[in-house]
Amino acid sequence: MRTPIIAGNWKMNMTGAQGAALVKALVPLVKDAKCEVVLCPPFTALFDVNNALEHTNIKLGAQNVHWEQKGAFTGEVSAEMLKALGVSYAIIGHSERRQYFGETDETVNSRAKAALKAGIIPIICVGESLSQREAGETDAFVSRQTVNALSSISQAEVEKLVIAYEPIWAIGTGRTASSEQANETIGVVRGAVRGLYGEETASKVRILYGGSMNPKNASALMAMDELDGGLIGGASLLAEDFAAVINF
Ligand code: PGA
Repeated sequence: MRTPIIAGNWKMNMTGAQGAALVKALVPLVKDAKCEVVLCPPFTALFDVNNALEHTNIKLGAQNVHWEQKGAFTGEVSAEMLKALGVSYAIIGHSERRQYFGETDETVNSRAKAALKAGIIPIICVGESLSQREAGETDAFVSRQTVNALSSISQAEVEKLVIAYEPIWAIGTGRTASSEQANETIGVVRGAVRGLYGEETASKVRILYGGSMNPKNASALMAMDELDGGLIGGASLLAEDFAAVINF
């Protein structure tokens, strides 16, 4: 059985103090959660949010990680640095990074390997654009993104990591994939993992859905058999909404 994960991606929102205040409101609402709960604040709020998360059932994630351990990489943050701040998950290859910051399948793969080496669980994002979906290219595209992201990662490490299927057209648009669409494409992603590593590994990898997931659609999405949780943007910025998704 795969333990579901609900992860909040705060994107470029929240100072440390604002993040700590949100955690304070969230903690009592989700203390009996049956899923793993992860919060991914911006780098600058990690310290305060980590302090606020002490003795709670919520884990800390980052929104990116560099592939080198240290050196002349101005503006970047290494896995070791994140680990030292209490980070146990890192979102890698979010479509906003691919779209605005030149992230490629190759850099996604390098970042995932660096995270795993430091003991941080990658949440690797894949997902098609609207034009790709309309052209019938979704399955081939997300399969290729998945295969490329996992290049030269061992079977044992793949079993630990998390993949998030996030159709770009559903992110921040209020337009959610239907539960069936999400389930079907997550099945395709799992099929790509199966093709590389076999059935046992494919059955262990947790694959989340992301894209306008909210208190209204969470329970229908979570009822889908391929779907192991959610990566939540907008609805993770309000304690009540995020708690309602977590307690789907
Ligand atoms: P959204 O973002 O929930 O605001 O659509 C999801 C994401 O980008 O991870």
